[in-house]
Amino acid sequence: MPAVGDRFIVTGGSQLNGTVGVYGAKNAVLKQMVAMLLAAGTHRLSNVPGILDVKLMTKVLEHAGATCRFEGHELEVDVPDELNPEAPLELVRAMRASIIVLGPLLARCGSARVAFPGGDDLGARPIDMHLDGLRRLGATFELDHGVLHGRIDGRLRGATINLDFPSVGATENVMLGSVMAEGQTRITNAAREPEIQDLALQLTKMGAKVEGAGTAEITIDGVERLDPAEHRVVPDRLAAGTFTVAAAITAGRVKVVDCVPDHLRMELRKLEAAGCEIERGDDWVEILGPDRATAVDFATLPYPGFHTDMHPQLVALLAVADGTSIITENLYDARFKYAGELARMGADIGTEWQHAVISGVDRLSGCPVVAPDIRAGASLVLAGLVAEGVTTVSEIHHIDRGYEDFEGRLVALGANVNRVTGES
Ligand code: EPU
Repeated sequence: MPAVGDRFIVTGGSQLNGTVGVYGAKNAVLKQMVAMLLAAGTHRLSNVPGILDVKLMTKVLEHAGATCRFEGHELEVDVPDELNPEAPLELVRAMRASIIVLGPLLARCGSARVAFPGGDDLGARPIDMHLDGLRRLGATFELDHGVLHGRIDGRLRGATINLDFPSVGATENVMLGSVMAEGQTRITNAAREPEIQDLALQLTKMGAKVEGAGTAEITIDGVERLDPAEHRVVPDRLAAGTFTVAAAITAGRVKVVDCVPDHLRMELRKLEAAGCEIERGDDWVEILGPDRATAVDFATLPYPGFHTDMHPQLVALLAVADGTSIITENLYDARFKYAGELARMGADIGTEWQHAVISGVDRLSGCPVVAPDIRAGASLVLAGLVAEGVTTVSEIHHIDRGYEDFEGRLVALGANVNRVTGES
């Protein structure tokens, strides 16, 4: 477990070249771990990334009564017949995604006590759509001293749920709540992310009847019971995308393997527009960065739009590009916090509400910066790769939440990045 005082010392100026692989997607595996709670017995996931969030979700499962063993990217979980239907504040605070236990705990136990998640580094992040969806399935909720008490009378019952916005988490919570509900559930305006398709695949292996995942309408026919299953987690498109930007920003040539380039269509299109040469196969993508990128505009949108979690990394590239880029962030109200850190390095970024105007500069200069969240942390490391001198990125426990051995894999490609542990 990384110490909170860990930081990266990044010395700029190296060009990245070579091959790097990625493991399973954080945003798929976390939900798939929770899905296991739906069936007693021994479940197995492979291609599991060795990241901090997986360790945190292990604690959530263990608190619910499960036993977890993680070795060599394989996770085996024993789920007991009786669960403790609770996710306490320290776990929900450490990782917001813990809220996803609500649906499965209600389905399995008929009740759930889950600490109400507050906002986080990315903004207010309400959960109204999660709760509305589960209410439509028959759950009732009371908020008492910061803890949500959910209850159902008998079994959850299928319903039609029209989401106001294609929220990833709300879609997943309703899917997990409805796979064992009585009757049919239709989720319209559902999120279409590849991680949702992968969750549906795992649930189907467990015996669930899910149709339409990956489209805006998902239909679920509830079954009485589910069984444990084995599943390989879909590759992490965000880790893959981050390494493509590492190649782009250092004018290097990097082949990312064990990934699905088709899940990064919009992001790769923008990198091409910025001057990168890209070749791709079914499970690899090779990117050659330009001597200097050219400005591009983009707006973040739910899948298949440009992913908000690739926004800060691309901005690091645009900070040193030729020309002015305008970007619009449509998912989070506080995603631009890192812009001030990039500005400390010499980037010219003006932000106004959900927009940023980035005028590319000739050079960034290394200095101490603080990682405010996972992707912004990665972005600051990428900026450090091309900055003059040394960039010290602190609070890197954020980066460890989503990237396995980030520094080791950058170093293998030729970067000069060192982890300094603790307060030394
Ligand atoms: N929203 C609401 N009400 C709700 C749910 C969401 O207003 O009930 C809003 C959110 O505040 C946000 C927007 O809808 O503005 C999108 O939220 P969504 O529910 O789609 O996101 P999420 O499920 O909370 C997951 C990922 C995020 C990723 C988003 C968008 C996980 C664990 N997290 O969050 O990943 O940014 O989808 O794709 O799957 C990351 O990996 O760094 C990360 C933040």
